[in-house]
Amino acid sequence: MTTTLYVFTGTGNSLAAAELLAQKLGDTVIESIPIQMKKASPVIPDSPKVGFIFPVNYSGLPLILSEFIPRISLSHVPYIFAVATAGGVGRYALLQLDTLLKENGSLLQAGWMVRMVD
Ligand SMILES: Cc1cc2nc3c(=O)[nH]c(=O)nc-3n(C[C@H](O)[C@H](O)[C@H](O)COP(=O)(O)O)c2cc1C
Repeated sequence: MTTTLYVFTGTGNSLAAAELLAQKLGDTVIESIPIQMKKASPVIPDSPKVGFIFPVNYSGLPLILSEFIPRISLSHVPYIFAVATAGGVGRYALLQLDTLLKENGSLLQAGWMVRMVD
């Protein structure tokens, strides 16, 4: 697969965004972060493009995503991006994700916020 999307969704908005993005990009696999969390770490994606799609919770990342980032190996992945869905603003969550990725030896190349039903 060219792109792997790691998705966490509470009420379905982020999953809907991931499914639409996967359809537009093509050659994309969607992986559930809660299911990935049950696997032995490190999780090693087999794609040159990796995206994280998640809701903003309390102005930041959902806890499960904060716990997932240290478990995923991304040093071989050249392009890492994120889409935060939110009722208001998602900037801080994207900055928080970039910080966690840097602590894990990587970084966020691009991030978008999609305003959704809150
Ligand atoms: C517990 C909780 C906290 C939230 N906190 C924020 C927030 O701080 N800022 C914001 O813009 N939206 C916030 N939202 C709205 C969600 O980010 C938004 O509805 C998102 O699209 C939900 O995605 P999901 O259906 O994939 O869970 C919150 C939603 C929930 C349930």
